[in-house]
Amino acid sequence: MPVILGTPRQGRFSEHVARFVLREVSRRDGVETELIDIREIHLPANDAGEAIKDARFSATVDRADALIIVAPEYNHGYPGLLKHVLDSNLKEYIHKAVGICGVSAGPFGGARVIENMLPVMRELGLVTIFWDGNFSSVQTVFDDRGTLLDEAYIRRIDKFLKELIWMAKVLRHGRENISLE
Ligand SMILES: Cc1cc2nc3c(=O)[nH]c(=O)nc-3n(C[C@H](O)[C@H](O)[C@H](O)COP(=O)(O)O)c2cc1C
Repeated sequence: MPVILGTPRQGRFSEHVARFVLREVSRRDGVETELIDIREIHLPANDAGEAIKDARFSATVDRADALIIVAPEYNHGYPGLLKHVLDSNLKEYIHKAVGICGVSAGPFGGARVIENMLPVMRELGLVTIFWDGNFSSVQTVFDDRGTLLDEAYIRRIDKFLKELIWMAKVLRHGRENISLE
């Protein structure tokens, strides 16, 4: 269950969110995770889609049962680079679970970026859950070193992860045992 840090921006607060979520996932028995930082995936900008697949990213998604996407809200949408990276895979996502953590400086916890991502998730073949991470006024949720200042997020992320892990197990069972024919 990799955690995708969805912005390359210098000084990104989403990195604190991604590292916090990664830590909470790592605490769960039997769940493997890793951080995928889209800043480290160097894709060309003069082509798009599966033509520019990064072998390592593709293999990580292929192995995963679920993805967690940490998406900052930029002008109510998602960062262009996040979409560019997500577009580089397709079959790797099909019938897998996805949970989204929205991050915003404003008060709505990235709700608008999450809503904008849902149709994209559907088209990629990912299955969304009915629980999100919402990190509002993120600059007040962590200190400069990334220490969590609001303990309530631990309980909220716990609920999010329980739901995501349940969906990941259901879909894995389906992929392995239920034919489409
Ligand atoms: C180009 C751009 C557009 C932004 N648009 C919004 C916005 O629509 N709503 C909002 O609450 N914050 C907005 N922000 C602030 C980010 O949500 C804020 O920086 C937050 O920390 C998450 O992004 P970060 O991980 O890059 O820090 C914007 C930031 C950038 C760089």
